[in-house]
Amino acid sequence: MEIPKNIYFKLRPLILPINKIISQIPVEANILDLGCGKGLLLNYLKNYESYTGVDLNLSSNKIKIKNVNFIRDDCVKYTNQNLNQFDTFLIIDLLHHLNPDSQLNFLKDLLNKIKKNDIIIIKDILPKNLFTKFWNSFHDLIVSKQIINYFNFKEFEINLSADYKIVDRFYKRIFLYDHYFLIIKKKMNFQ
Ligand SMILES: C[S@@+](CC[C@H](N)C(=O)[O-])C[C@H]1O[C@@H](n2cnc3c(N)ncnc32)[C@H](O)[C@@H]1O
Repeated sequence: MEIPKNIYFKLRPLILPINKIISQIPVEANILDLGCGKGLLLNYLKNYESYTGVDLNLSSNKIKIKNVNFIRDDCVKYTNQNLNQFDTFLIIDLLHHLNPDSQLNFLKDLLNKIKKNDIIIIKDILPKNLFTKFWNSFHDLIVSKQIINYFNFKEFEINLSADYKIVDRFYKRIFLYDHYFLIIKKKMNFQ
């Protein structure tokens, strides 16, 4: 049974570091929120230029209201198109829902697509110990009915091309949720 949206919007902020995510987003951003879920983050955004959320599980195919769009699609497929209209990419708790093969290809394809100075804000669960690893897997088994795949950030960061800069990386623990942030920018020519 799916959690009703109003209950989800009350519960999710208890375990998601929303302010930390929002504080990474530049002002007047053109945001592509990949795996946007029910669009929770949109409620917390201020001073953005446009917002597009993409998720497999949206009730409508396409919703457009002024500068806000919701599109039902597979993020891996969606990012194959031209993304020049966006400059800020949110990947919040999506990676662990992708299978291990597509995780890396999805990020590599996205990195190849973005323009200089564009920013990718990744936040995913990266457990620090066996207990939080078990707890988070159990959480998703119950909530998403899915066996999740933790992303290998270490390998990804080591192999990141010199065209990109890691602006920041840090952990934020909330209860038993080890949230890992990785913020990447495509370098300008002079950087
Ligand atoms: C844990 S939720 C996170 C939702 C939202 N980012 C948030 O933080 O509130 C993960 C979301 O990813 C979506 N998802 C998983 N695989 C996807 C895919 N291949 N393409 C699009 N959405 C996907 C799920 O439908 C789900 O809504």
